[in-house]
Order: sequence, then C-alpha cells, then structure tokens
Amino acid sequence: MKLLIKNGVVVTENKEIKADILLNGKTIEKIAPDIKNVKDVCETIDANGKHVLAGIIDMHVHLREPGFEGKEDIESGCKAAVKGGVTQVCCMPNTNPVCDNAVVATYIKHRAEEVNLCKVNPIGSITKGQNGESLSDIGKMKAAGVVAISDDGKSVSDSQIMRLAMEYANDFDLKCLCHCEDGSLVDGGVVNEGYNSTLCGLKGSLRAAEDIMIARDIALSESLDIPVHICHVSTYSGAALIKSAKERGVKVTAETCPQYFILTDDIITSYDTNTKVNPPVREEKDKQAIIRALKDGTIDCIVTDHAPHSLKDKQVEYNLAAFGISGIETSFALSYTYLVKSGLMTLGELSEKMSRNPAKILGLDGGELKEGAAADLTIVDLNEKYVIDGNKFVSKGKNTPFNGFEVYGAVKYTIVNGEIKYKA
Ligand code: DOR
Ligand code: ZN
Ligand code: ZN
Repeated sequence: MKLLIKNGVVVTENKEIKADILLNGKTIEKIAPDIKNVKDVCETIDANGKHVLAGIIDMHVHLREPGFEGKEDIESGCKAAVKGGVTQVCCMPNTNPVCDNAVVATYIKHRAEEVNLCKVNPIGSITKGQNGESLSDIGKMKAAGVVAISDDGKSVSDSQIMRLAMEYANDFDLKCLCHCEDGSLVDGGVVNEGYNSTLCGLKGSLRAAEDIMIARDIALSESLDIPVHICHVSTYSGAALIKSAKERGVKVTAETCPQYFILTDDIITSYDTNTKVNPPVREEKDKQAIIRALKDGTIDCIVTDHAPHSLKDKQVEYNLAAFGISGIETSFALSYTYLVKSGLMTLGELSEKMSRNPAKILGLDGGELKEGAAADLTIVDLNEKYVIDGNKFVSKGKNTPFNGFEVYGAVKYTIVNGEIKYKA
C-alpha cells in the first residue's frame, strides 16, 4: 500500500525543505519535490502548511499492563501515544508481574501487536521483581525482544549487582537505563528540598540523592568501559556530572522530560498532587542548566516518563499521592513551544532529541526521515495553538501539571509502518 504526503515541510537535522513523501508499505520510498503519476497510491495527505517529522520515539513510558490496568493499559497508552505524535515507545518494567522474564516481555509485544497502533518495545527489569538482589533473565528477555533493562521507579542500590547487570547486559548488547536515586537519602522526600519544600511543609529530597547515583553509574560505566544511559535528569549538578564524563569520553547518554525544562518547584505551592513526580521538579537554576544541557548535547533526548495514575492515586494528600505525570499527549507541543518557538533550538534539533537520538541509543528502527527509512512519521501544525486540558486526554491518566498551559504545535497525523494511526 502506498501513501503520498504532499506539500509538507520536511524536517531533517539541518534543513527544512518543502517536498512530497511517498510511503510504500513500511518504508519511505521517495522524498522529492512534486511527486506525481504514482501508480497504486491509496491515499494522499495534503500537508500544505504543516511540518513532517521523523516519527517521535519516546524511550521512557509506563504502560502499566499487566497489573495496573486501572491506571493505563497497552491499548489506552498506545492511543495516547499516537495522539501525541509518538510512533514508537519503550515501556518500563514496573508492572505486576514485573517484566523480569521472557513471558511478560512476550505478552507485552503480543498485546501491542493486537492493539496495532504504535510500535512498543518492552524494557526488562535489571533485577527479579525489581528487588535489587538477583539479576533477571536478561538473555532470555533479549531473545524475547526487550530493547534495554532498567529497574525504573528505583535505583539498584547494591553497586556490585549494578556492575554485574551492566556487564551481563552488555554481553547481550543491551544498555542499562538508570533511574538515579539514593533511596536512603530520599528518605520519604516528596518534593525538591529547598525554599519551597520548607514553605509548604513538605519533606524534601536533595539533589544529592539523584547526583550520587548518577556519579556512581558513570563511575561504573567508566571503569568497565560499558555504555550507560541516565534517565530523567533533573538537577544542574547531575547535568554537570554527565557533561564532564562525556568530555572524558565516557559512554554515557542521558534524557530529560518537559517538566524539568519548563517547570520549577514554585508549582508545588498549589499542593496540586499532579505536580508530584520523581525525580521532583527542581529550581530555576536546574531548569536553566537542563536547557543548556539539551542545547550543548550533554542531554541527548527528550522522553516523557509518561506515568499515568488513576484519580484515586492522586486525589489524596500530597504525601500519600503517587509520583508521576501523564505526559505522552503533550510532549511535542510543550517541547516545541518552550524550546523551538522560544528560539532556543531549531525544529531539526528538537527532532534529533525526540526521534533520532532515542533510536540511536537503543538501536531502534526509525528516527530518520530519508529514503529507505521506516515509514514512521509525525505531521504537525506549528501554528495551531491550544490549551492543555488533562480531562481531554485519551490516556487513563489525567494527571498533568500543565493544565491551562497554552501551547503551539498540534499533532495532525501519526503514521506508523506507512499506515495512518491517528488523524486529528
Ligand atoms: O514519577 C515517577 N513515576 N517516577 C518514577 O520513577 C516512576 C513513575 C511511575 O511508575 O509512576
Ligand atoms: Zn524513573
Ligand atoms: Zn519512569
């Protein structure tokens, strides 16, 4: 089946050109000005006035299935993904049962195939049941299709276990995705420790709780010469650790999320539990440093850490509420508005952070707009403005701190494997 996209502005790393794109099944067949007289074109999309990007790849989401379908399931999560312009996700293993074996990984892949919306890559856990003690069936999970391993939700506190995990995973060509948090130092903290935590009477968590684990995982990576990926960087000091490690040639990559380059912990003074996320939103100097780190390449990619929760998990007092933000439907518009429209980076650079680099880091198919690449595309209208309203999310998780934010960059079409999976 062929699909022709006419008159859009095609965005690649360093240029934006007006061109047509012909998709043939799962592959981009041709990118050229004014493609015509094509036989067997099933559908033509008029992308005049719109921008065509490599499909967005969100390498850090929580789909909650199996086990927490009240928060999200693979179907609702994939619907939310394609609405957000996301063509491919990698889902974290903190489900119930934990994705620590080939059976759960296979289940997720099968269910995603039935749902047939975006591509879904399971991430296996580092340790069995995420207990931090014994390694999961890493080789068998790799054979079942996991693309990385992570104990996301917490760190592996035992450094020897982490070392063994990195070595073992590396033998299977898998990376560890490190949620960096020293649990003993967090000690029940629910927000960033600083002026606002004191003002609000909420228990804080130091930057050091994150930085210590970033430093440890960089040290392991450097000593072992094994690549490592740091999840959701939120501190200025963590970004500095990664920058200097990269300067020494350490094989470290890193991600951040819109909440860390858009918000500051001033938002917690509302006591809105939708602002509760782990790591916590920090202060202005962190936000500015995260933006700089995105610009200078210290932080390679933007992910959502899409963490949907049910109302009952959030409509409780701040200390008891679940950590997490439902982010997959708003990540493109927020990133576009705050990074590109504000003049901090080009659309091509944003596309690198949201598509190309995640694909490179995990060795995934996609992330590029060129002939012969996967026919995964996101078509956006950069001039269309809207106001974020979590109640309109298709995700089961309505938990966003961005309610009322006015953003530009509406997703118009999401195309996966040459098929339209979402149309606004
Ligand atoms: O805010 C968070 N939510 N951070 C995490 O590390 C886990 C996630 C979740 O699973 O809800
Ligand atoms: Zn995490
Ligand atoms: Zn996460």
